[in-house]
Amino acid sequence: MEILGWILFLGITGFFVGKWIKHKSLYPFMPFRYDFRKRRDSFRLAMKLMDFTHAKTIVETGTSREGLRGAKSNGAATIVFGKWARENGAFVHSVDISQESVNNAQAEVDRQGLSNVVKIHTSDSVQFLSNFDQQVNLLYLDSYDYSDDPEVQRKSQEHHLKEFKAIEDRLYGHTIVLIDDCDLPNGGKGKMAIEYMLQNDWKIAMQAYQVLLVRNDFPLDKVK
Ligand SMILES: C[S@@+](CC[C@H](N)C(=O)[O-])C[C@H]1O[C@@H](n2cnc3c(N)ncnc32)[C@H](O)[C@@H]1O
Repeated sequence: MEILGWILFLGITGFFVGKWIKHKSLYPFMPFRYDFRKRRDSFRLAMKLMDFTHAKTIVETGTSREGLRGAKSNGAATIVFGKWARENGAFVHSVDISQESVNNAQAEVDRQGLSNVVKIHTSDSVQFLSNFDQQVNLLYLDSYDYSDDPEVQRKSQEHHLKEFKAIEDRLYGHTIVLIDDCDLPNGGKGKMAIEYMLQNDWKIAMQAYQVLLVRNDFPLDKVK
């Protein structure tokens, strides 16, 4: 009986220690309970680069349809970058084709008191980016959902390449590009966009679940 008790105790302790080790928070920037898991380190680097470049305009395709609840699954980038924008005098434009996603994200933006620094637009992202009339400091591409279906994968990759091309001429020397859901079978959302960018004066600053890219002459070594 005593041995069984110990086995149970060690099992439960192991379970919670395992959870603790996997938990990747952005604390103190975001409350500790939110687990950004596979995106935590690339979000951190993106914000570090934004600090360095004094970013003012952030554009996201695909909005935080699950609000902060979706930190682990979807990323909750609208809120993360919204919070960074509030603290740094910047502004986030997030675009989504689905009214439901827009409504959910807007509700979270309101709850977090970010409505004066985040605007969520309802539109197809390529159309939105084509008409966007400001220079972009951080471009975050995370729209057309990726899946196991090769046809959907190809369409998602083509869509993210089209997004990049639609805004390309409003990116400048210090623009940072972050692409979500890349470490997935057949290259993820960013495959075609990244191939194109690498042929056009961009380099990879971080390659993980997300891929972060900057211009070839971006002084990454100067970023602390
Ligand atoms: C993975 S979610 C975005 C998650 C969000 N970036 C975050 O960090 O929480 C993908 C979103 O892209 C949107 N989407 C799909 N196709 C789109 C398109 N053509 N234009 C704009 N948004 C699109 C979907 O409606 C969905 O809300």
